[in-house]
Amino acid sequence: MRCACWGWPEPVDFAGAHALVTGGSTGIGLATAQVLASRGARVSIIARDRAKLDLARAALSGMVATFAADVADAAAQDAALDAAQSTFGPIDLVFANAGTGGRFGPIGECPDAVFEAVLATNLTSVFCLLRAVLPAMIERARGSVVVTGSLASVRGMAMNAAYVASKHGLVGLALAAAAEGAGAGVRVNCLLPGFIDTPMLHQLGDDPAAIRARLGAKVPQGRVGSAHEAAELVAFLLSDAASHITAQTIAVDGGILGTLMPG
Ligand SMILES: NC(=O)c1ccc[n+]([C@@H]2O[C@H](COP(=O)([O-])OP(=O)(O)OC[C@H]3O[C@@H](n4cnc5c(N)ncnc54)[C@H](OP(=O)(O)O)[C@@H]3O)[C@@H](O)[C@H]2O)c1
Repeated sequence: MRCACWGWPEPVDFAGAHALVTGGSTGIGLATAQVLASRGARVSIIARDRAKLDLARAALSGMVATFAADVADAAAQDAALDAAQSTFGPIDLVFANAGTGGRFGPIGECPDAVFEAVLATNLTSVFCLLRAVLPAMIERARGSVVVTGSLASVRGMAMNAAYVASKHGLVGLALAAAAEGAGAGVRVNCLLPGFIDTPMLHQLGDDPAAIRARLGAKVPQGRVGSAHEAAELVAFLLSDAASHITAQTIAVDGGILGTLMPG
């Protein structure tokens, strides 16, 4: 349906769709869960902390269920997926967004355990999630997936090699899944958030306002982005309005990637 005046598509209706959002208790995931639920989706959220899940559930309107699981634990994630599908039926839409920022330090001082833990949360978990949901999506010829990468999916960054490696790997995983799903109309795309105002960004210092100002100054638009601005792109990519868009990486970054010397 189109607005009479400008011809832009109206907000997409997700009525009847079951959307899974990992890392949906705060930040970009929570904002996306809100957009999807407000447009009629039945939304299942996975994150670890039960208290944060309860707060998220209370903040959201619509049909929302929460499941506590660590996505780095494949068995726990599988159990949460089973519980979600028992609650709302087969999963139509996936936002694979749970992630950790890793630990800052030079490569020479990164223990195996830290490297492996970051890959387990940011990359292996998404492989396990796709392994669980993609075959059924292809079988039903119905499904759309967005994975959350980072500007570190397409650029290097010193002092956090595990994070950069995990987020680069996600792009490859998304492209492989997109190629497998394309013939059945199942789409897989990758969101690249820039500096987005979430609890993860706030972990970079003690004062959120100072972090917003410091990082915002590095963005061509002169500010950090909001979780809602990222969520609107995710909702579009998940929707049928994006029906010919697959295997893409798309940044919400205020122009950072498009600029030679930002900030
Ligand atoms: N904010 C940015 O500027 C930015 C930039 C680039 C990329 N990203 C990416 O965006 C995604 C979302 O981050 P955000 O900025 O929205 O941060 P956030 O507000 O801290 O959200 C992270 C979410 O993931 C969940 N989570 C973390 N580890 C998990 C695990 N092992 N198992 C299950 N859930 C887990 C968290 O809940 P629990 O802690 O309770 O599990 C929370 O719901 C991440 O993949 C991040 O790498 C963010």
